[in-house]
Amino acid sequence: MSNKQTNNKKLLSWVDEITKMCKPENVHWCDGSEAEYNKLADQMVKNGTFTKLNDKTRPNCYLARSHPSDVARVENRTFICSNKKEDAGPTNNWADPREMKEILRKKFDGAMKGRTMYIIPFSMGPIGALASRIGIEITDSPYVVLNMKIMTRMGEKVLKALGDNGDFVPCLHSLGAPLSPGQKDSTWPCAPSIDDKFISHFPEDPAIWSYGSGYGGNALLGKKCLALRIASPVARKEGWLAEHMLILALTSPAKKTYYVAAAFPSACGKTNLAMLTPTIPGWDVKCVGDDIAWLRFGKDGRLYAINPEYGFFGVAPGTSMESNPNAMKTITKNTIFTNVGLTDDKDVWWEMMGVSAPQHQVDWKGNDWTPASKEVAAHANSRFTAPAKQCPVIDPQWESPEGVPISAFLFGGRRPSTIPLVYEARSWEHGVFIGSTIASETTAANISEQGVLRRDPFAMLPFCGYHMGDYFAHWISMAKKTDRKNLPKIYSVNWFRKSPEGKWMWPGYGENSRVLKWIVERIEGKASANETAIGFVPTAESLDVAGLKIDKNTLNDLLAVNKDNWKKEADSIEQHFKQFGDKLPSELTKELNDLRSRLN
Ligand code: OXD
Ligand code: MN
Repeated sequence: MSNKQTNNKKLLSWVDEITKMCKPENVHWCDGSEAEYNKLADQMVKNGTFTKLNDKTRPNCYLARSHPSDVARVENRTFICSNKKEDAGPTNNWADPREMKEILRKKFDGAMKGRTMYIIPFSMGPIGALASRIGIEITDSPYVVLNMKIMTRMGEKVLKALGDNGDFVPCLHSLGAPLSPGQKDSTWPCAPSIDDKFISHFPEDPAIWSYGSGYGGNALLGKKCLALRIASPVARKEGWLAEHMLILALTSPAKKTYYVAAAFPSACGKTNLAMLTPTIPGWDVKCVGDDIAWLRFGKDGRLYAINPEYGFFGVAPGTSMESNPNAMKTITKNTIFTNVGLTDDKDVWWEMMGVSAPQHQVDWKGNDWTPASKEVAAHANSRFTAPAKQCPVIDPQWESPEGVPISAFLFGGRRPSTIPLVYEARSWEHGVFIGSTIASETTAANISEQGVLRRDPFAMLPFCGYHMGDYFAHWISMAKKTDRKNLPKIYSVNWFRKSPEGKWMWPGYGENSRVLKWIVERIEGKASANETAIGFVPTAESLDVAGLKIDKNTLNDLLAVNKDNWKKEADSIEQHFKQFGDKLPSELTKELNDLRSRLN
């Protein structure tokens, strides 16, 4: 597609500036067509970046293997470059925007030599919807182009919607691997040193400059960078919420539908919950989104959510017909797999896929693998990129431009002890307190130590583009924007309790529908609860465990409030809150004090 497709002056002059700086060999305006997708995929098969999978078992699917240094988001190389340091807050890496741009201009100078520069117009949210935002990603990675085609609405139709004067977020991306004449390309070009990767956000421009990584959230700039880190301060200014949340629709046997949004830290099973298959008769779950929610007040004063994405970028290991049959059915075609194992019949395999490991395959590093191998076949953060519309339980309203009305927020993390299976917040402020104190054992979604407990407020620790204390205050302020009766109820959930022997106490997955049922029955004023020091915990009778093999003691433990543990929790929350200084809203200090007095 030629640049004749747009007369948008801001866009044309930005493209001109970037072309001069990055010095690519070619410039390609993406039209978003199938033909373009197929042509680029063929090209990547030829240069070895892609392996075409078996067309009989996985039609139109590809496997990519990344460089071993480039396998996850790089939080320590992710920067919020606000003009004032205090606006980034204590939980973000801040860099001076002028200094960062100076560093990056040098990096980007000639960064695309020998490569094609792709211009990707994309829309986060349905094209033309009031809540949607347009971004333009410039990248030298064809892998990024194809993933963006799945993850966003992209191409010519977005340029049309942009028009001559429309605004967009400029998203600049380079692999940081220019090619000199005659140099053979690698199958996953990137800047291999971690220190040479920069995922930089300029909230006041707004703009995104990402350099050195070709993987996931570092490179697909519509997702974490635009829809969360750039959108969150915009949302604050404009009175809405940009959240790291799945959205699901739950229909009761009485055929009443409730929409629920839930925040969990990365790799805590958001995709599994979003497409859950209920084990209790008569209940139905449909999926609106699995990672991001943008929420605004509707005319009726309720909060409405859209999923700004168009696809799923899900963690492969652990996804099986048992844990998530709907995801397994979603990824049978038109899917890109990254860093999973490749079987001899050109299909994919990963750990805990629910099918036994083949006698031979090629692992994510490209090495021969047998069941005797010591290493995993699929990287722990290996992924599938698949169109959302292929999900068998996609909600009929998932593309509604107005969004879906939210009845409940769920907050959770991987907590082996202390936090009960589920409890209800006492009030909006108490719910915000629960969100602000989410903690989880860390996982492979980020390059860092794994299995340590970290506080991840609202699951936004790596994604909030401004001071987290101001973010808490923004959440508190939502109660002032509407009648309280319109606000969603707030719940804490924890599927990850372990017994002292280290065994999972709750079966999870489809059985989590039992917890969702209790939540709906609370909303309907039907289910009973005990008022405890921490909030409203289900009575043992109110939780439907019919047909579930769980002994009474385990159930009691799952619903127990251990005051000694909670006193330790309160101490740990106090430590966590200290970092926010006087930006911590007084409402949250009060919630902590009230919790402590209820524990005495
Ligand atoms: C993701 C993440 O990729 O949260 O969704 O890390
Ligand atoms: Mn996520």
